[in-house]
Amino acid sequence: MLSDTMQQALNQQINEEFCSAFIYLGMSAEADRIGLPGFSNWFKMQYQEELGHAERFFNYILERNGSVDLLPIGKPELTEETPLSLFEKSLKHERHITVCVSRLKDLARGESDHATDVFLEWFVREQVEEESNAQNVIDQLRLVGDNANGLFLIDRELATRTATPAE
Ligand code: FEO
Repeated sequence: MLSDTMQQALNQQINEEFCSAFIYLGMSAEADRIGLPGFSNWFKMQYQEELGHAERFFNYILERNGSVDLLPIGKPELTEETPLSLFEKSLKHERHITVCVSRLKDLARGESDHATDVFLEWFVREQVEEESNAQNVIDQLRLVGDNANGLFLIDRELATRTATPAE
């Protein structure tokens, strides 16, 4: 059985994941506005992955016979973005999610909640990948700078991304 504290923390994380999804959906629209369909696709796939993350927490709470509490989702703060600023925001956001997951892990260990501790392992590994993905694109964007051909090639590469199911 989940403690009240753990149940509340896991519900908060469902909200963090839905907020992540909403941010990435906004980024997808922003990239489309800039005229970069590949970037738009990448963020749309990320949006779908975040929905999967939220669902994973949702299913886990129910599996432990807990109560799901769906909290409000705020408006993403995105205005006049550039390809680089979008991915810098993505990296900053993923670092925030990594901290959230680490705090959940600390809580699970503090409560000797081994089941939740093991459940969170997947997210610990996932966050390494999330931060790395954003960092890699930032590195590429910094490399090409203002070169339109370089940006076109990155856009073409990001167009190939498909969503990975969170299983
Ligand atoms: Fe679900 Fe991108 O963290």
